[in-house]
Amino acid sequence: MSKLRLGVLVSGGGSNLQSIIDHCNSGYLPAEVVIVISSKEGVYALERAKRHNIPSFVVNPKTFPTKTAYEDEMIRLLNSFKVDLIVLAGFLRVLSPHFVNTFQGKIMNIHPSLIPAFCGEGYYGEKVHKAVLDYGVKITGVTVHFVDEGADTGPIILQRAVPVLDNDTPETLAERVLQEEHKIYPEAIKLYALGRLQVQGRSVKIIKGEEH
Ligand code: GAR
Repeated sequence: MSKLRLGVLVSGGGSNLQSIIDHCNSGYLPAEVVIVISSKEGVYALERAKRHNIPSFVVNPKTFPTKTAYEDEMIRLLNSFKVDLIVLAGFLRVLSPHFVNTFQGKIMNIHPSLIPAFCGEGYYGEKVHKAVLDYGVKITGVTVHFVDEGADTGPIILQRAVPVLDNDTPETLAERVLQEEHKIYPEAIKLYALGRLQVQGRSVKIIKGEEH
């Protein structure tokens, strides 16, 4: 079976990127990261790509006249590397219908809360964990979902709960949530690679296999 070709989009530290690379290298994932695109210069995710000899590019929206021109450049790169699945890993831009429709059903995102709570425009990274603590919920978590035209609204693939502790800060909570992210994202990508995800309207059915 040929390996699934992943294009990973990042904007920051890239710990999820690292976990995906590690799970490819260990053989857990029948996949390989063939391209990394960052929306920002100088982020640590780019360093991680370099260390693993993965071609990486900065496509900064601020350097393009329009959002379409910006996304067209990403589409060109992803197509030229023959990507099968686009993985958003701490990618902090909302993609337009133009981009989403080009790769219909082939874009996944990870969000550090239990969607539909604490998600949507403006909820990213540490802001999510701060909002969780401010609200006082006792359980938060992680969601992996397919990307549709909205912000964090696409069909949910996997979710995992993380308890909120009394003495949590946004940093300590982010750290525990990230540990779950590093497990759940490879699981979701593996299910996709094995052809075990079936989207039915808003819900994603997981076809039974040997491991789940
Ligand atoms: C992760 O917690 C990811 O879930 C979040 O950004 C962080 C990136 O960390 N993404 C969002 O908030 C998207 N709305 P990483 O760069 O170390 O993978």
